[in-house]
Amino acid sequence: MTDSTSITIGYDDGDIDTNRSNGGNSLNALIDRRYSRRAALFGGTKAAAFAVFGGAVLSACGEDKDSGPGPTVTAGSSGETTSGRVVTLTGKAANTAGVAQAAFAQVSGPAVALTQTTAGTTFIAPSVSAATTLVFRYSSTDTNGLTITTDTSVVVSPATLGFAAVSKNKLDVVTVPAGYTVSVLYRLGDPIDAGTAAYKNDGTDTNYSSRAGDHGDALHWFGLAAAGSTRDDTSSTRGLLVMNHENINQPYLHAAGATTVAGARPEAEALKEMECHGLSVVEVTRSSAGAWSYVQAGALNRRITPLTPMVFNGPAKGSDLLKTAFSPTGVAGRGTINNCANGYTPWATNLTCEENWAGYFRRPTATDNALRTPREVTSLTRSGVTSATGNYSWSTVVPADSTNTLYRRWDARVSGATATDDFRNEPYQFGWVVESDPYDKTSAPRKRTALGRFNHEGCWPSNFVAGRKPAWYMGDDAQNEYLYKFVSATPWAEADAGAADRLSIGDKYLDNGTLYVAKFNADGSGSWAPLTFGSGPLTAGNATYAFADQADVVANARLAGDALGATKMDRPEWTAVNPVSGEVYLTLTNNSSRTAANTDAANPRAYLDPPSTSVSNRNGHIIRLRETGDTSEALGFAWDIYAFGAGADLDPVNINVSGLDATNDFSSPDGLWFGRPSNASGKVTPVLWIQTDDGAYTDVTNCMMLAAMPGPVNDGGVKTITNAGRTQATRVGKAPGTTLRRFLVGPLEAEITGVDSTPDGKTLFVNIQHPGENGNPSNITSHWPDTQATGTAAATIRPRSATVVITKNDGGVVAL
Ligand code: FEO
Ligand code: CA
Ligand code: CA
Repeated sequence: MTDSTSITIGYDDGDIDTNRSNGGNSLNALIDRRYSRRAALFGGTKAAAFAVFGGAVLSACGEDKDSGPGPTVTAGSSGETTSGRVVTLTGKAANTAGVAQAAFAQVSGPAVALTQTTAGTTFIAPSVSAATTLVFRYSSTDTNGLTITTDTSVVVSPATLGFAAVSKNKLDVVTVPAGYTVSVLYRLGDPIDAGTAAYKNDGTDTNYSSRAGDHGDALHWFGLAAAGSTRDDTSSTRGLLVMNHENINQPYLHAAGATTVAGARPEAEALKEMECHGLSVVEVTRSSAGAWSYVQAGALNRRITPLTPMVFNGPAKGSDLLKTAFSPTGVAGRGTINNCANGYTPWATNLTCEENWAGYFRRPTATDNALRTPREVTSLTRSGVTSATGNYSWSTVVPADSTNTLYRRWDARVSGATATDDFRNEPYQFGWVVESDPYDKTSAPRKRTALGRFNHEGCWPSNFVAGRKPAWYMGDDAQNEYLYKFVSATPWAEADAGAADRLSIGDKYLDNGTLYVAKFNADGSGSWAPLTFGSGPLTAGNATYAFADQADVVANARLAGDALGATKMDRPEWTAVNPVSGEVYLTLTNNSSRTAANTDAANPRAYLDPPSTSVSNRNGHIIRLRETGDTSEALGFAWDIYAFGAGADLDPVNINVSGLDATNDFSSPDGLWFGRPSNASGKVTPVLWIQTDDGAYTDVTNCMMLAAMPGPVNDGGVKTITNAGRTQATRVGKAPGTTLRRFLVGPLEAEITGVDSTPDGKTLFVNIQHPGENGNPSNITSHWPDTQATGTAAATIRPRSATVVITKNDGGVVAL
């Protein structure tokens, strides 16, 4: 066996021991059964059948071998492979009477599904935790009705990474390993209803509420039955991709870049930019030939945008903090923005996370602070609602309909008599986790305020255990921010996974519970501090910020985390949960404000990485934790650092601490995801996918995605890192070596983000975000995805964020 994973069984042997399973049958019983089968199939006579069969019996000492004009089955051989790979069984039946029927059947070992292909009979080697033998029997029946069988065995060992690392590169294509194919599935501007025109990609397109948005980010597969709109969690050939559209490459969306007229943005441009944000729900299908496409007229296709009606749930619902001119009772709102990473629920809803929302609001502090209370200023400043213009200056639009507040809402200045006369509180309508039902395009998404308000990167769940309260792990992506988890008040009941009213199940688990923030101790332990009003410092007596109630605590989670002494991390991005062990991984992408003077055990590096001239954590790291007692309800955990980003050429003692080399060196980890437990990439030693959003190593390579098979927390040991003038003790996992490998490199100026697979693990979906982000219509700096097929494209073609599909050419589980 080689890594090609194909076992071909096929040597000729005319005198073999067959059909061992029939040893207990009498000769007459065998003859009777053979006669009956042959008679039914061919209408022959008993005498002919007996004569032929009798000869076989005689020469084979009681086994049903045929020496006459019946089939001769090639003998079995054995093969070896590893979990997740394709095995091909071939049998050969040489005979003069002709083969009427021949097939393999499984005799022993973990059950696999056998598929007939032109190459033979194939199956995916099952997940095993130790070498395991599977036996298959090839039976061939000739036109006289006589059957000969032979057995073959396949020894399956535990999964390993099964691809050669992709080299770092600066090509304008997506590069994947040999033996894999990448194809473009769903691009910025692609129409998602029957009536919307094809995308011209020249800046004149409109109606983005019916097109793919920009900056595809996190994505998740929700299976569909073969027809109709029915949920099917097992489907790997038809489903809905739900993805975030985090932000925009503004210049490319307009014919000649963005314009400003008399100090105001044109309404049509601002509307287009808003509608390019939000989410897509889009149907995708795999043809019988294996090609993937999105379905333009999919019945469940939907765009959720900053204009989509939404409701608030949880402790902040109806709070004064949420009241605006649009939402005078604080229970409703419009839309979602800057949706970055994601999460899901086992009742098949999607969680999207509002990350860098604060910058969209216009609130010049020089004038607005004086119109606010000190508490409001503390809150708004801590959230970063301090922009003088707001991103893209949407609030400057003078709409054709003067009653239209879609633009004014981005103006958070105090301008009216009360909070319901203006949009001073609109910033409090963002920064939440939002649950939506992909199978019901008319349902209003629900903002789950119990999960807190901050720069929500992602919201990945713990493993679900019946009777145990599930948790969701959440990073707050800004320098020196925190890791949070929300533990539901409701123990998990598996029957809820299949409920029809999915959002009401969301109410049950996501509206009541405890929000915690993480503290990482120097000794490798950690604790979760509850953000509960009235407990500890979270009271009206708190000196920095007087908390009023639980709504105030969740809405100002950062201030609560400050008060609780949470550990300031190097920009917490995605979380991922090992589906076997439950261990939680967290990317800490980088931190330009980490200095040698303020490192800690969990954020231990501050170094110089030229051409940067300042000391910081330039390349980021990935920390991981194991909950005490392996339960999502735990109040403590153990932690270590799985891997440190670094160029392979950097100091192997204090910077390239994980010993990365040319096959796996990376910088600025961001996206993070374990293979689904429904296939071999998510079992035993699950595959961890790591995606980068980098600006530090991009002089050498475009951003990338790596695959890893990590060991457990604390598989390494303690280490002391010497930073510039100060040492820092930390805890470092075992060096990953070849268990961490570069799988993909993206096109120019793109971030790799968003990854999921079909349940069978044979199809991987990945988002390529903002190719050519530093360019504009007069200086186009990437032409991807039009370059993907040949490596080049016309100089006038604008780049488009897009989702790609990656499959293994032999049909195996991706990465294995
Ligand atoms: Fe949207 Fe923190 O990445
Ligand atoms: Ca991200
Ligand atoms: Ca990022």
